[in-house]
Amino acid sequence: MNLKQPGQKKLKHIPAEKNQSKKDGSGQIQPESDQPESDQPESNQPESDQTVSRTKESQPEQDLIINMTGINKGYLLGTDKIPVLHDVDFQVAKGEFVAILGPSGSGKTTLMNLLGCMDIADSGDYYLEDQAIHQMPEEEMGNIRNRKIGFIFQNYQLIPTYDILQNIIMPLLVRGMTIREAEEHCMPVIRMLGIDNRLRHRPAELSGGQKQRVSIARALVGEPALLLADEPTGALDSSSGSDVLKLFRQLNEMGNTIVMITHDMNVAKAARRIVHIVDGHLKI
Ligand SMILES: Nc1ncnc2c1ncn2[C@@H]1O[C@H](COP(=O)(O)OP(=O)(O)OP(=O)(O)O)[C@@H](O)[C@H]1O
Ligand SMILES: [Mg+2]
Repeated sequence: MNLKQPGQKKLKHIPAEKNQSKKDGSGQIQPESDQPESDQPESNQPESDQTVSRTKESQPEQDLIINMTGINKGYLLGTDKIPVLHDVDFQVAKGEFVAILGPSGSGKTTLMNLLGCMDIADSGDYYLEDQAIHQMPEEEMGNIRNRKIGFIFQNYQLIPTYDILQNIIMPLLVRGMTIREAEEHCMPVIRMLGIDNRLRHRPAELSGGQKQRVSIARALVGEPALLLADEPTGALDSSSGSDVLKLFRQLNEMGNTIVMITHDMNVAKAARRIVHIVDGHLKI
């Protein structure tokens, strides 16, 4: 998680006037005042080839979190391989908030599984920060996944028999922290997300919006290099969905790099850059 205030870390592609934290004196993120959707940076325009070429040309390679080139991926159907992703090039710089927008079946989850080191491409190169994922044994990919990536899913994927605090500390226990260390480590995130009064509840006792905040807390506590969200508002009503998107923007303004997958243009508009995926082709 990046809890740093703006100014402490160099952010990319964020206009100065947008680079303001929404935290109040309590340290808890507050909802933004309602802003019209039109108050989006220019880079939200899907046709913004300019944004992408700026990313490619002006970002030195060491500033890239994601650098995918020539990625192909298909699934075996009997003896035939059905191609899904075709020659995908995708770069994301540190501090970006990018939406991958495409219709059902276009290959979004397939791409997310590759980005999240949950699956292996058939061909092509994938560097996550300085790590060559395409050359990595599977066990090491699991380690990278746990240390570098925070996942946020449409259906939250919380463990129903665990309480909220147990769910949030889980990634830290996997890394070898004691329960006490993990609980202490998590408290700033828990307070920031305003879920500190729900810690002994079970997931079923929370609203959808609260559950998604818990899953965001769980994604953040491991201080990942990348937050990956697959349809994070898909199961929420419009008000809770809009709160989650505001939270994403605030987390991005604090320096977190976010890639969000969605089929919904209104959701994608919350990001600072949109790339389209159509029939497995990424259209920048
Ligand atoms: N494990 C699999 N085995 C075989 N085919 C698969 C597998 N996973 C996905 N596919 C196929 O790959 C294509 C892309 O699927 P994917 O799940 O990536 O789409 P998506 O864009 O995430 O769709 P949605 O918006 O409905 O979630 C689809 O045609 C799907 O049927
Ligand atoms: Mg999907």
